[in-house]
Amino acid sequence: MRHFLTLEDFSKEEILEIINLAIKIKNKPKKKRYLKGKTLGMIFEKSSTRTRVSFEVGMFELGGHALFLSHDDIQLGRGEPLKDTARVLSRMLDFVMIRTYEHKNLEEFASYSSIPVINGLSDDFHPVQLMADYMSMVEYKKDKNPIVAYIGDGNNMAHSWLMLSAKLGFELRVASPKGYECDGLIIHKALKIAKKSNAKIRFFHNPKEAIKNADVVTTDTWISMGQEDEKEQKIRDFKGYMIDNELLSLAKKSAIFLHCLPAYRGYEVSEEVLEGDQSIIFDEAENRLHVQKAILVWLDKQRKK
Ligand code: CP
Ligand code: NVA
Repeated sequence: MRHFLTLEDFSKEEILEIINLAIKIKNKPKKKRYLKGKTLGMIFEKSSTRTRVSFEVGMFELGGHALFLSHDDIQLGRGEPLKDTARVLSRMLDFVMIRTYEHKNLEEFASYSSIPVINGLSDDFHPVQLMADYMSMVEYKKDKNPIVAYIGDGNNMAHSWLMLSAKLGFELRVASPKGYECDGLIIHKALKIAKKSNAKIRFFHNPKEAIKNADVVTTDTWISMGQEDEKEQKIRDFKGYMIDNELLSLAKKSAIFLHCLPAYRGYEVSEEVLEGDQSIIFDEAENRLHVQKAILVWLDKQRKK
């Protein structure tokens, strides 16, 4: 049985297999009920629009059912141990998705779970988002040796881009202000994997250098969930990192702009870029639905092997 906690646990072939399945599911007008009668529990410790709706609708369209389990409304929020929750839910559900803070919560939950556990975002990684992002790159024909520039906070999105690039072997440039670089251990792991795939991964403190000639430009909020107290400081420290038309003009003319959303206009991205011709953010958001379905179907298939 497999979990979906980070892309580090997946081979290039497996990632591409799931992406191809997502494209197949998206393009099939007739909805196949791959998960008839199956159930997914969704534990949320943080807010969500896309992740919640895509998993819930995805399960419904596949013939199954999803349960929204707000952390504060279940006993977990009152101190019931993760390991007990994991074993109880394993007896009742077929899958569980968790959005949490510390990534080690997910690992602990998974180690006690006898059903597949999916990471719906942790402080370290957001792998289900990256699958939708890569699917969008395939659809816009940006998957053949692209240069991807991530301009912003060295957070869960940046870490997930590191893993995707390392696994698939494309060039990734990450520009973050001093003090907001990616986690050293995650960089170390990604660079080790990148050696095998020949991915060129480079880090910058100057967004203009990083974005030069890029095929795909992406960013994320400067203030992730749980960092609300750091807002004022971060806004000061990220000066010059907003992706506006001037910065974007340094990328290739044909470059696409991705953002996992929610986006904060006037901070990490300007209104004109977000609403501009190069932005494919709503196709990207829609792909969350298709890719979530593919991940669930793929995990279910692994269980039967
Ligand atoms: N991109 C993303 O995960 O969005 P939500 O926080 O709305 O789920
Ligand atoms: N880095 C952001 C992503 C939101 C989808 C956060 O963790 O809040």
